[in-house]
Amino acid sequence: MPSTQTNVAPVFRKSIATFTAGAKSLSQRYFVSPEIFAQEQEKIFSEQWVLVGHQSQIAKAGDYLTADVAGESLIIVRDKQGAIHGFYNVCRHRGTRVVDDEQGCRPTFTCKFHSWVYGADGALRHVPGAEGFTGIDRAALVGVSYGGRVALDTAFVAPDRVTRLVLASAGLREFESSPELREFGDEEERLLDAGDIDGATDLNVRLWVDGPNRGPDPVREEVRERVREMQRRAFEIQVPAYEAQPPPGPEDPVSLRLSEVRAPALVVVGDADVPDFVRIAETLETELPKVRKVVLEDTAHTIPLERPDEFRELVLGFLRER
Ligand code: FES
Repeated sequence: MPSTQTNVAPVFRKSIATFTAGAKSLSQRYFVSPEIFAQEQEKIFSEQWVLVGHQSQIAKAGDYLTADVAGESLIIVRDKQGAIHGFYNVCRHRGTRVVDDEQGCRPTFTCKFHSWVYGADGALRHVPGAEGFTGIDRAALVGVSYGGRVALDTAFVAPDRVTRLVLASAGLREFESSPELREFGDEEERLLDAGDIDGATDLNVRLWVDGPNRGPDPVREEVRERVREMQRRAFEIQVPAYEAQPPPGPEDPVSLRLSEVRAPALVVVGDADVPDFVRIAETLETELPKVRKVVLEDTAHTIPLERPDEFRELVLGFLRER
């Protein structure tokens, strides 16, 4: 049987063959400099097309893969019509990562935090209402900071469903902020408008973790770091989200009357917190019908992070009371 043979030029050449006398490689700093890495992330990986996979990896409807590009996790998914979409791997509710695995197939994506459901086309399909929280009829609510305000409102509007309240560094509807707190809000807005997310983050860490009258303390450094990371991430998500779509105003304002809140409440506040929150705790102690207040010494706003053991003991002790 006749055979043919073709001479093909070698694809790979030995490195010695590519050597050009006098040529230099990039200087070392291009490989190790954090500034150059940041520029690459910004100017190349944030702006140019980036290969994250092949369409054959997501051949069927619902097939998806995740990829990290320029510090963001992305979901690449094929919908029922066969179209391929790319989304930030972030829940629009509270910014939780929606998918943790690298690849898979599912008809919808359910956020593990509060079970919001998204279609493969990115559309929000389902938001569970109060009844959607898996059949919990009655519950004790533990709220910290703004969460305390939400817990209070909930106990007021749904008195039969809230058995107890723990309100730590709690906010309070219609409580008038002090000039100092308004100044903080103005400064935060100014920094965010200027695109200074690090500055706005540090401002928050200083006020909420250190407190207005304490300096940074090495003992709290771990808490400061955790809050810094959480706050920066919140700004990174919230600022563009709010710019794209301002949050809706309250649909159903609550006229809260503290004297009508039936659930027994434990109010916890730190004596180094912003004075507004110390005053709110005093108001709650005066006006809630069934209330006990605990003041933690040398503690600022982030009580569960700063005093986790004491806070846990207080909460569990209170929930066990009859
Ligand atoms: S953060 Fe996703 S449902 Fe709340």
